[in-house]
Amino acid sequence: MVSFSKIALFAAVAQAAVIPQESPAGLKVRQSGDQNVITWDKYSFYVNGERVLIYSGEVHPFRNPVQDLHLDVLQKIKALGFNAVSIYVHWGVVEYERGKFNWDGVFNLQPFFDAAKAAGLWVIARPGPYINAESAGGGLPGWGARVEGQWRNSNANYTAAWQPYINSVGKIIAKNQITNGGPIIIAQPENEYSGFMNPDGTLNPQEDLEYERLLLEAFDEAGIVVPTVSNDAWIGGHFTSVDVYGYDNYPAGFDCANPISSWPDPPDYFYAAHKDVAPNTPNSILEYQGGAFDPWGGAGFEQCYKLIGPEMVRVYYKNAYASATHLLNIYMIFGGTNWGHLTNPGGYSSYDYAAAIAEDRTLREKYYEIKLQANFLMVSPAYLTSVPVDVQKFPTSGSNITITELWDEVGEKQRFYIIRQSKPSESKDSAFKVNIETSAGPLTVPQLGNAALTLPAHDSKILVTDYPAGPVDVLYSTLEILTWKVIDGKTVILLYANTGESGEISILTNTARKVDVRRGKSSTVTFKQTSTALTLQFVVGHETVAALGDDILLYVVDRVNAYNFWVPDVNLKDDLPVIIKGSYLLRTAKFSGNTLALTGDTNGTTVFEVIAPKKAQAYTWNGKRIDTDLTRYGTQEGRYRTTTPRVDVPDLARLKWKYINTLPEVSSGYDDSSWVTADHTYTPNKIKPLTPVILYASDYGFHSGNILWRGHFTATGGENEFNLSIQGGNAFAYSVWDNDKYLGSFTGAPAPSAHNGSYTLAPWTKGSNHVITILQDHMGLEQNWFGGEENFKSFRGLSDYSFGGATPTLKQWKLTGNLGGEKFVDWARGGYNEGGLFAVRKGYHLPGFDDSNWASKSPLKGLTGPGVEFYRTTFNLNIPDGVDYPMAIDFGNSIKESYRVEIYVNGWQFGKYIDDIGPQKSFPIPQGILNYKGENTLALSLWSLEDGGAALESIDLVIRNKVEGGVGTVKNSPAPSYAVRPGSY
Ligand code: GAL
Repeated sequence: MVSFSKIALFAAVAQAAVIPQESPAGLKVRQSGDQNVITWDKYSFYVNGERVLIYSGEVHPFRNPVQDLHLDVLQKIKALGFNAVSIYVHWGVVEYERGKFNWDGVFNLQPFFDAAKAAGLWVIARPGPYINAESAGGGLPGWGARVEGQWRNSNANYTAAWQPYINSVGKIIAKNQITNGGPIIIAQPENEYSGFMNPDGTLNPQEDLEYERLLLEAFDEAGIVVPTVSNDAWIGGHFTSVDVYGYDNYPAGFDCANPISSWPDPPDYFYAAHKDVAPNTPNSILEYQGGAFDPWGGAGFEQCYKLIGPEMVRVYYKNAYASATHLLNIYMIFGGTNWGHLTNPGGYSSYDYAAAIAEDRTLREKYYEIKLQANFLMVSPAYLTSVPVDVQKFPTSGSNITITELWDEVGEKQRFYIIRQSKPSESKDSAFKVNIETSAGPLTVPQLGNAALTLPAHDSKILVTDYPAGPVDVLYSTLEILTWKVIDGKTVILLYANTGESGEISILTNTARKVDVRRGKSSTVTFKQTSTALTLQFVVGHETVAALGDDILLYVVDRVNAYNFWVPDVNLKDDLPVIIKGSYLLRTAKFSGNTLALTGDTNGTTVFEVIAPKKAQAYTWNGKRIDTDLTRYGTQEGRYRTTTPRVDVPDLARLKWKYINTLPEVSSGYDDSSWVTADHTYTPNKIKPLTPVILYASDYGFHSGNILWRGHFTATGGENEFNLSIQGGNAFAYSVWDNDKYLGSFTGAPAPSAHNGSYTLAPWTKGSNHVITILQDHMGLEQNWFGGEENFKSFRGLSDYSFGGATPTLKQWKLTGNLGGEKFVDWARGGYNEGGLFAVRKGYHLPGFDDSNWASKSPLKGLTGPGVEFYRTTFNLNIPDGVDYPMAIDFGNSIKESYRVEIYVNGWQFGKYIDDIGPQKSFPIPQGILNYKGENTLALSLWSLEDGGAALESIDLVIRNKVEGGVGTVKNSPAPSYAVRPGSY
């Protein structure tokens, strides 16, 4: 997360950043000569000797615990025209207990790598040790709280902590490298190693070079031979000892509450700054804003999508291209879910991120916008050797336009002009002419008639000159190029603009060409033929198709129609010279004999158009034959009617629900002897508490979910007040009892992460025994953005408590979180999944538990006072094959009350709902966690923090989207059922 401190630091040190000109002597820099599969020069990477643009999207396998759904997401990324996916690995998840790695089941990375390979994507592997990512501890493990000293530097204790992990994950990465037939082409140690602290907590301008050296050495030792990259938080020249220096950028900010109007002006300086720091490596942006995170009580992801929607992609992504960015990774392209307490306190269960692919795996409009851009870049190889040579800023009627000119230094012919509003936050449309350089000399375009180039508000355009579309030399085009292909000797060029705009394309040709408008109105096309060029001007409508002689076919379409085109193979080798129009998603295309077999997803009636070689004589869609007719320009068109069968989903409100009180701890005689005794008197934590024994949960191995504390006291007599200082992370809450008497709660608010509370006691009588029980929420471990800081150790628990009236004698403090703590019980679902509530400790959230002895009550009835109840129900689903129907559990939220719900679906914690803080009300539950063909167990904890009690307003299982198609069989994730838990309490 870009924390406030990070922004402040950026301001403070960005100017003063030390920029090493070369790697400090003695650092081990892996040379590309170790392998020659992936290499680079100052412009771009090469894979197997071929210059490539690396266009990648970020996905976190740990945020999707259904292995069979990876392929769905990865095929969607591939269909954008991207060629790579970037991943973080979360250390704390896989080494929840120190020294014991869990790479099994949903934590196994192999299925992800295999799916990436199957989808045809390379992988950028980013295992940390630190990742940030708005995740618990920023990736650092909870047990780190007991490791003395600073983290993310060369502190020997920290070194000993991370080395086994990097060794373990490093070997997995090494095995899956491209050099071993796997998909991994790049590896990144650390993340944003850009801000640093001294032991005393003051800022240190210097990175820890020894730490960097140790990390690179560990990568080497694990057998990682692909190039290493860094991800500096800005172009500050940190961690340049990697092979290829990289940085990240979030240009549109995170102010989801004020979309677009809060947009900063796009920067022009990236390329120059990159050249200063890393002149000999490709300009590499390891993270570029694909959405936004959102805090508790935030605006919600639909609102973030207004900030980071298709307009943002048009303005800022094109601006990144203006900096000659030749490795670009979009963070996030699919966010996924913070299931099982995986979040840091700065976020909630959804990590939707307003990304192009939503949390429920549906495609947003932004997806289609990115697809237009990626497709263009993939067929524009000169972009890879182009650099910005000129930035012109000029006012036009009522607006300011910035034009960056890129020049292909190697080919010495092509230019790309990136045209944008200088202040995209303003809503101004502009119409103007542009001066461009071409091989035919300088030109002012558009040329024909009185036309102007229009640039609407929140838009940008890329204009090309001397652009080869296969054998066709495009002198210039003010229409944007989507793609081109040479199919049976005919060059098909797809161009687009906004509806109603006029655009021009000029083609170098010395023969007179017949312009034949075969689709659309010929009145929208004007043209001029000279002895050297044919220049055409189009008023852009839905679709115009014009043949220019026998060997050129132009499609000119408006933006929304452009979204419909798919290029299954963006490579220029033309192994698959096919363009398809139509469908919600085209996953794959391949010839089998003369049949072109297509797979993908549809919704509604789809009109396909297949632009393919004559060899294609029959077409199938997901195995079904599509009948087609020949169009007037030699392509095939056919109609496909989608079937999305009606299915019944249960009405959750009407199911039979069973419940128990899950707070036996506050009934008299409760025996907590099996609990952990809080008896430490020393904590490695920098914040030393005032309590007689340490009351920090992580010191005793509890790092997630609800934490319970029980202080046993003998009264001196006259105690009439209990005061405490407690911390749980943003939006946390707690409730306090004196024996079975409820004292009160702090109901929480979005920001506070700690609270000083004071609760009145019914005066204690001398010699009486009292147990103060505190139930607190743990909102996740903090991140640790600064190298050298220890913020992730921020305690969860009490730093102080006291009594008013008199001071009792402490007998002991007990605590519990999840059963077993770091020696957690549920290997399949991992250490973070469970919290400390009685029902969860016992395993009652699991499928197969026999709740027949429990009383019946619905969570819509709920509690009449403070406390926590645990509810269970079961239901069946029967969703047919061949469709993708993502579902969610929705909560009614018209009246806000102080209660919290944790949702367990088939034992998987898949959401934490806070009624009075929000904003999340809808919790996507993926297929595979939900059993789509059989029984499901839904369990909820309902924690009422109000004297008047709490009940759900409504709870619904909803189908979010219906498409025919999908990724095929989705195996359910392992969901071990209930078994008596020995030693549970
Ligand atoms: C970056 C960081 C990512 C993520 C992102 C915001 O600074 O590298 O891990 O936290 O900010 O979503």
